[in-house]
Amino acid sequence: MTYQRIISTNQLSDTLNDLLKEKSYDQLFVLTDEHTAKLCYPLIAQYTCGAHHITIPAGDENKHIDTLCHVWKNLSYNNATRHSLMINLGGGMVTDLGGFAAATYKRGIRYINIPTTLLAMVDASVGGKTGINLDSLKNEIGAFYPADAVIISSAFIHTLDVANIASGFAEMIKHGLISTDEHWARLLQYDQNRPDLERLQSLIMESIHTKEEIVKQDPTEQNIRKALNLGHTLGHAYETLSMRRGIPCLHGYAVAWGLIGELYLSHIKEKFPVNKLRQTLSYIKELYGTPKFTCNDYDALYELMQHDKKNIANEIRFTLLADIGEIRINKTASREEIFEMLDFVRES
Ligand code: GLY
Repeated sequence: MTYQRIISTNQLSDTLNDLLKEKSYDQLFVLTDEHTAKLCYPLIAQYTCGAHHITIPAGDENKHIDTLCHVWKNLSYNNATRHSLMINLGGGMVTDLGGFAAATYKRGIRYINIPTTLLAMVDASVGGKTGINLDSLKNEIGAFYPADAVIISSAFIHTLDVANIASGFAEMIKHGLISTDEHWARLLQYDQNRPDLERLQSLIMESIHTKEEIVKQDPTEQNIRKALNLGHTLGHAYETLSMRRGIPCLHGYAVAWGLIGELYLSHIKEKFPVNKLRQTLSYIKELYGTPKFTCNDYDALYELMQHDKKNIANEIRFTLLADIGEIRINKTASREEIFEMLDFVRES
């Protein structure tokens, strides 16, 4: 699998202009959702003039086959060829769906991601996973198909709101936990009450490099890429439960609470150091508060974890840590251990 170029810039328009001059293409397409069409597209419109602009409805609930069809048809009616180029400008929904449209249209056209949310910058837009949901099954249909380039622009970092930063920051904490003590400590030193956006941009790049190193070793998630699922077995279950109850929670908040549970499991099963568990817990509690579930929800959460994509032969598989950067994949846990983990998350 080819690999993508990651460009960090304080001059989005110049960077994009240079990048487009380097590439040869017959037609340019820009995909946005209805929000990024208004708020972000004007920042690049001047450098993409003549491009076909495709807009899709915003929100994960629209990340489905009908929206994808709309993008395919737009490409087709405007005579896109294998030499056309697409720019995905938006959050993870746009980069995932746009990437999958690019992967499948005429068996693949090139694309550039310009993520506009922190979550998309540090996770969705990097690493080549593209896809759509199938009914309530998230990212059930997809392909590994990396962008040619990903542009991380300070222009969008400067417009992030507090909840958006917190949501993306959970994935960054995860990247710290699976890399080095120094990286993890730098993240826990970042003061969310006094945001320093230059510092944040440098932490974002460090986070992306951590992800890239793992993806390079295992692009299609046969083994070590499962490290990137730390916190997600419980996180996804909680996210789905919240959605079904009509009180959806941001992905990163669910991941943050998932990290607490899975670090606790790491502690009891793999001897993850208790002081590092406590430090991570205290940062997460301060930033994300505590999740809203009770012991009456344990069976539902357990049942949802049984549907996790990482499971093998119907057994729930976790990614755990023996220490920071000491990754243990495909780890099982008993129902009792999982319920003990839920007690810990609820009571801590
Ligand atoms: N979001 C996890 C991965 O890209 O593998």
